[in-house]
Amino acid sequence: MTLNNFNVELFLRDYWQQKPLLIRNALAEWSNPLEPDELAGLACEPEVESRLVVGAQGSWAVEHGPLAEARFAALGQEPSTLLVQAVDHHVPEVAALLAPFRFIPNWRIDDVMVSYATDGGGVGPHFDQYDVFLIQGHGRRRWRVGQMCNDNSALLPHEELRLLTEFHATDEWLLEPGDILYVPPRIAHDGVAVGDNCMTYSIGFRAPSRHELITSFADDLVSEMEDDDRYADPGLAAQTNPGEISAAALAALHEMVTEKLADRNAFAKWFGAFSSTSKYPEIDWKPQESVEAAQLQSWIANGEPLTRNPASRFAFVRQDGGAVLLFVDGECFETAGEAAAFAELLCAQDAMIVDPDLIQSDTTMTLLVQLYNQGSIAFYQED
Ligand code: SIN
Ligand code: CO
Repeated sequence: MTLNNFNVELFLRDYWQQKPLLIRNALAEWSNPLEPDELAGLACEPEVESRLVVGAQGSWAVEHGPLAEARFAALGQEPSTLLVQAVDHHVPEVAALLAPFRFIPNWRIDDVMVSYATDGGGVGPHFDQYDVFLIQGHGRRRWRVGQMCNDNSALLPHEELRLLTEFHATDEWLLEPGDILYVPPRIAHDGVAVGDNCMTYSIGFRAPSRHELITSFADDLVSEMEDDDRYADPGLAAQTNPGEISAAALAALHEMVTEKLADRNAFAKWFGAFSSTSKYPEIDWKPQESVEAAQLQSWIANGEPLTRNPASRFAFVRQDGGAVLLFVDGECFETAGEAAAFAELLCAQDAMIVDPDLIQSDTTMTLLVQLYNQGSIAFYQED
């Protein structure tokens, strides 16, 4: 699947992280990959994150999933929007929507959220911290985009929806199925369904905050520190004023902190694991029966395709000398040689036929067995 009327280089140069872009008829052969009933079914599952927003301009009420099946039948005439996160984790046809956006690194991708709205439904004017591609999947939605916001932008006193008090529209479009609207972080936007059965697929990205980078990296570093790793001052010079924290002491103390934070290798290992941790790590995707290498070898020899779990996150970091650190679902695998080449391939494609020669590679087979047994990959017999 590729995007029509879209040039990756121009988009990255002139729009990404800068300004909204409407891509008309981006998906020409578009066919809606999900039925509203299936979406409603997901919203009833306890492990799926979902929200139901009922009401329109001025009075929005939010309910959190899992929703009871009866809730949908009880919805009255008021406009409503059902929003379900990470539908790509559960529906391969929705995961396939990520394919045209793979020019952006895996670690920046968050999930595909799907919304279903009745006529007039919407979540109100707001801004998000993240980039998003809004694919119009079914029905029509009027999108308005507006001003650049920040943490000081005035919000309505609403407990859960971060609704803007002011909205200064700069553009307005009516999106039809197959159209895509890109909205950069912090740009005000407001989408209202025009007619019933309005489905929107949001390809959402993520960007770590400095706060979470520092706190999480520091947490990781301190977990390995010894109690006797302490400040020491042999050769201490007598001080004229005992109240002074000397420049020399401060320099040594500061060095104790920055030396650890500046360790690039430790940072790369930590960040790979941190950013590849799955969005919902509490969901157990392990296979019912774990396998040994012989089983995988026979599947590979039979040409059965390997598929990545759409809920899994794959990334790698190149190291000196051709070694590769592969990160999958928070686990780090140190690979070299054939296994390193395979690790890179696995990060580039969400499905593949494994080269049968790799059956002979013990390191690759060990890697595959671990990935299979942790639920990050599967092998499917094509019918
Ligand atoms: C929606 O799909 O209705 C809302 C998406 C968004 O504004 O972020
Ligand atoms: Co939004």
